[in-house]
Amino acid sequence: MSAPAAEPLSALPEHGPAFHRLVVTELRELTDDAVAVRLAVPEDLRAAYGYQPGQHVAVGVPGDEERRSYSLCGLPGEDDLRIGVRRLPGGRFSHGVLDTLRPGDALEVMTPAGRFGAGLPGLVRPAFVAAGSGITPALAMAAAALADETVEEVTVLACNRTQASVMFLEELAALKNRYPSRLQLVHLLTREAQESALLSGRLDPERLAAVRAALVGPVDGWFLCGPQSMVTELRAALLADGVPTGAVHVELFHAETAAPPPVPDAPATGTLATVRLAGLVGEVTVRPGEVVLDALLRVRPDAPYACKGGVCGTCRARVVRGEVVMGATWALEPDEIEAGYVLTCQSHPTGETLEVDYDA
Ligand SMILES: Cc1cc2nc3c(=O)[nH]c(=O)nc-3n(C[C@H](O)[C@H](O)[C@H](O)COP(=O)(O)OP(=O)(O)OC[C@H]3O[C@@H](n4cnc5c(N)ncnc54)[C@H](O)[C@@H]3O)c2cc1C
Ligand code: FES
Repeated sequence: MSAPAAEPLSALPEHGPAFHRLVVTELRELTDDAVAVRLAVPEDLRAAYGYQPGQHVAVGVPGDEERRSYSLCGLPGEDDLRIGVRRLPGGRFSHGVLDTLRPGDALEVMTPAGRFGAGLPGLVRPAFVAAGSGITPALAMAAAALADETVEEVTVLACNRTQASVMFLEELAALKNRYPSRLQLVHLLTREAQESALLSGRLDPERLAAVRAALVGPVDGWFLCGPQSMVTELRAALLADGVPTGAVHVELFHAETAAPPPVPDAPATGTLATVRLAGLVGEVTVRPGEVVLDALLRVRPDAPYACKGGVCGTCRARVVRGEVVMGATWALEPDEIEAGYVLTCQSHPTGETLEVDYDA
């Protein structure tokens, strides 16, 4: 590759994905198991950390090679970054954030990535279905949509166990106060009875149909974020109900059932891959059985990734020439796959040569 193999991340091209140490300026309790973390972005990095609502950042797990993704939940006009972290039982990073992180500490944060919100601009009646911590991207996107006067109505269906477990409850209420006629905010609770039986219980396809009939007007784009089973079920229900495929966008935070990537018969000598990343073009051999991302990381430590499980989409690139077979593709929409986009953490080449473009 044109970039030296062992260069520190800070010396790599400025316009590519990069990690920087950002200082925590505020930790605010959201629920008894979730906090909002505010990270200061120095003025010279503001352009690099500018983001579209719906994007996320990869955060380095301290003392480890691992990374975790967190959706950016700031409101329009904020220069800092804000993320909301919920404690996951046994979770390494989330326990660290809730138990030991303090203002003044720094986190290694990658520049924003992700395309969940790419379908939002131009919509006039978007709807968000968010379960648990899935409210984080929905909050940022709903706020941005409401700030746009051409947007007629925004619907947020927030699904939680109890009212006390709703992350960003105050921010959601503040949005409702600010835009009373344009925001349809509906809280559904699974473990607490509400006055309306319709809003008490799990949001399954039947309940979604009933909520839509009773409370939701026309919608021109759906954004679903929550547990895999719920998102998969509701997406199928919307499509079965005639909503076009391109109008339903999903984001998962975790895949409960991740199939191991198939390993195709690859040339015994491996595949010579030409890779464009952050404007630099170079070559690397993808060894038999290896995925494109792992091969690339040997020579380009700045290659973007987080989950390595086909969920976050941080490693997305476009295949310009040649072919790959992928394992999990949770983070790609059907039209992206059609256009040749792949998740390089899941991609095994099948031929002798391959060309992928991370900048596409
Ligand atoms: C695009 C994207 C955006 C995300 N945004 C947010 C966000 O805004 N707020 C937030 O709190 N989290 C978010 N996540 C999830 C986050 O990245 C971590 O997965 C989560 O915080 C758990 O990390 P951990 O180190 O605490 O747990 P780990 O130590 O990674 O996991 C502990 C155990 O729980 C399982 N597990 C991991 N994640 C989940 C999950 N989400 N649900 C169920 N089981 C799981 C693991 O397989 C493991 O068995 C997002 C993930 C993605 C891919
Ligand atoms: S690194 Fe998350 S999808 Fe590839």
